[in-house]
Amino acid sequence: MARITLRQLLDHAAERGYGVPAFNINNMEQGLAAMAAAEAVDAPAIIQASRGARQYANDIMLAKMIDALVEIYPHIPVCMHLDHGNGATTCLTAIQSGFTSVMMDGSLKSDGKTPASYDYNVDVTRQVAEMAHLGGVSVEGELGVLGSLEHGTGEQEDGHGAEGVLSHDQLLTDPDQAVDFVAKTKVDALAIAMGTSHGAYKFSRKPDGNILAMGVIEEIHQRLPNTHLVMHGSSSVPQDLQDIINRYGGKMPQTWGVPVEEIQRGIRHGVRKINIDTDNRMAMTGEIRRILTDNPGEFDPRKYLKPAMEAMVKLCRARFEEFGAAGQASKIKVVPLATMAQRYARGDLDPKFHTQRDAAE
Ligand code: 13P
Repeated sequence: MARITLRQLLDHAAERGYGVPAFNINNMEQGLAAMAAAEAVDAPAIIQASRGARQYANDIMLAKMIDALVEIYPHIPVCMHLDHGNGATTCLTAIQSGFTSVMMDGSLKSDGKTPASYDYNVDVTRQVAEMAHLGGVSVEGELGVLGSLEHGTGEQEDGHGAEGVLSHDQLLTDPDQAVDFVAKTKVDALAIAMGTSHGAYKFSRKPDGNILAMGVIEEIHQRLPNTHLVMHGSSSVPQDLQDIINRYGGKMPQTWGVPVEEIQRGIRHGVRKINIDTDNRMAMTGEIRRILTDNPGEFDPRKYLKPAMEAMVKLCRARFEEFGAAGQASKIKVVPLATMAQRYARGDLDPKFHTQRDAAE
């Protein structure tokens, strides 16, 4: 098997009605854990790295790690995706490192903090899509700014996230604008703003429609049935993981994430990619805290990193199963980048047509 483009994978998911979790990684342990979970349940994988991850791990290390993961798990199609690219150069260098998909987040200016104008977003996203599609690489765009509908602020994650207080107009993607944006930029997938934010502190109570606006997704899907929608900030921040962290010396204030059943509702309305980072961080941290508290004499990192990986495998497996991606990997025949490039050049992009042809080829 091989690395797959986001476009081909999400076309497959759309045709069969499932969603694919996109797990952020920064190191070998997270990469191995996400892939072990995918293999265990026969799910295709989206592994994503942010600019912060690229700085932390080094691009060369990440590129070789992706090569290794593809080789270790030959039966699993892997989409390697750039999370929150802030400009054409960041996207191009990711492609040079072997990424098969990039996110151009033009909802913020290149400083990753200042909300950008609609025209800026269209221009920079269209430029990246034109460039990436020449090589068959997929592009995710974002319209609307991630942030809380409760207090109007975004969460900074690895230096990325809106500063200042945002209005509801900025925090909720406008369906009319979404139609115009997709037509002008030709993105393969669109991230929607509807009240989620990065990190653990998304909601001060179990979210209802006032603070998690799933209706926006349903409206956009009605208007854009062939565009793959993306939910960012979609960790569920499970209570048991908060409890284990706090039981073993952590101090996380009570918080709520995005309930899995809300994500499943999104999947019924065109959501195909679901971004998850915080839940895996919490799963690993809970295990590390538990082991070091119970064994204060321990100093071999393998003794706590291996169980931490196992905790992440458990979380990832659950999400693959809950989103319907389990059992799908072996049904996908990966199309090479060059073939995808030809399809873009011909403007030949009907999702249903693709998947049927992929199977026939
Ligand atoms: P969480 O912080 O909810 O895991 O979201 C991660 C994310 O959206 C990365 O882009």
